[in-house]
Amino acid sequence: MDPVARQYEAYPYPERDPAEEAMRLITGSPSHPVELDHFLFGGARDWSRPFRALVAGGGTGDGLIMLAQILADNGVDAEIVYLDMSVASRHVAEGRAAARGLTNIRFETGDLLRASEYGSFDYIDCCGVLHHLSDPDAGFAALRGALVEGGGIGAMVYAPYGRAGVYEMQDALRALVGDDPPEVQVAHTKALIQSLVPTNGLKRNPFLNDHAHGGDAGLYDLLLHSRDRPYDVDALFDALERADLAFVSFATPGRYDPRLMLSDPVLRERAGALTYRQCAALAERLVGNIKVHCFYAAAKGALSRIAEPSPASVPSLIGVSGAALAESIFKNGVIRGEVDGVGFQRALPKDAAGILTAVDGRRSLEDIRRMIGWEPGRFNDLFATLYQPLNNFGLMRFSRLKRAAAKPSSRL
Ligand SMILES: C[S@@+](CC[C@H](N)C(=O)[O-])C[C@H]1O[C@@H](n2cnc3c(N)ncnc32)[C@H](O)[C@@H]1O
Repeated sequence: MDPVARQYEAYPYPERDPAEEAMRLITGSPSHPVELDHFLFGGARDWSRPFRALVAGGGTGDGLIMLAQILADNGVDAEIVYLDMSVASRHVAEGRAAARGLTNIRFETGDLLRASEYGSFDYIDCCGVLHHLSDPDAGFAALRGALVEGGGIGAMVYAPYGRAGVYEMQDALRALVGDDPPEVQVAHTKALIQSLVPTNGLKRNPFLNDHAHGGDAGLYDLLLHSRDRPYDVDALFDALERADLAFVSFATPGRYDPRLMLSDPVLRERAGALTYRQCAALAERLVGNIKVHCFYAAAKGALSRIAEPSPASVPSLIGVSGAALAESIFKNGVIRGEVDGVGFQRALPKDAAGILTAVDGRRSLEDIRRMIGWEPGRFNDLFATLYQPLNNFGLMRFSRLKRAAAKPSSRL
């Protein structure tokens, strides 16, 4: 049996318990429906139309359950195909779907290299999988081949610099415990972690905590994986190119803007003269702690469909409340945020608080402007100022998903 297949039968990852579905819905990038609409469908998808998605390498179901639950809540006629080669992982994902009473998922066991045998898809999620394939290029190409015209992909691959310390530990552990059975490898690894010398790369990387919080499966996935190849920005863009895919955007574009990391005006100007790809590659090196690249891509030649603010756009806040942002404006005159230790701060006049409290995922920008009674010029200028950092750090997206909601399904 292939060692990666063996690993995910023994250690479905991430470790999840269906009983916990009653307590919370795990959300994130890629594949939040509002976010995928924003990046792939101009924030203007007509959600009354049927939607077919593939979750390729769906694992224990994080992306799957988020997608299926949010689409069900909003009454979208969706079929989501879960595909994974691990039967043990599928059982966990099935248990989670059953706990929520979700009926919009079709479970399949198989190889994502045969994705197109399951039909063609408006959207494909492939999170944390491609870097584990023996032939990742074949994986990228298989996903591309299963897209409908105009469809898109949301994916995540590991990145090298933020995982500093991981790859030398994987090599060290292979040399020390590689011939032991998996559970013995895990025991030795736990003991070794307790006694690492202070100079060890893993110990010096404060941004890595999967081994501390992810249980045995997290430990195995991080340090004992038999096939794990990270992509720097250039390697990622090259892989997309070879698969005839066009890069659309990273989920948090601000993480890839080197000007946010350069204070010297000469260097900022030089960075400003680079291509987008060069900028992103530079930012990755300057910031140093990007562990994964979470991105959206579409078939090459398709029009870029990233949402832009317009009167008809419907903004949503993700992972932050408008009331909290408004309070920060009243108290401190700024909005602040942070992703993996990199923050933003944007000064805003008190007036901006009114816009943020009116954002509910249903009102369009024109609705909000009329509600607060401003002239278009003043409204657009202020909205652009607050939108830029919120978009950069993944906190504001455009989608008509909630506006189009028909009759919401029951929810736990
Ligand atoms: C790290 S887990 C990620 C799971 C899930 N996508 C997530 O983000 O939580 C990788 C998953 O990819 C699956 N996988 C690896 N290679 C595959 C392949 N060729 N076809 C289908 N599934 C695959 C594994 O079985 C495992 O469940």
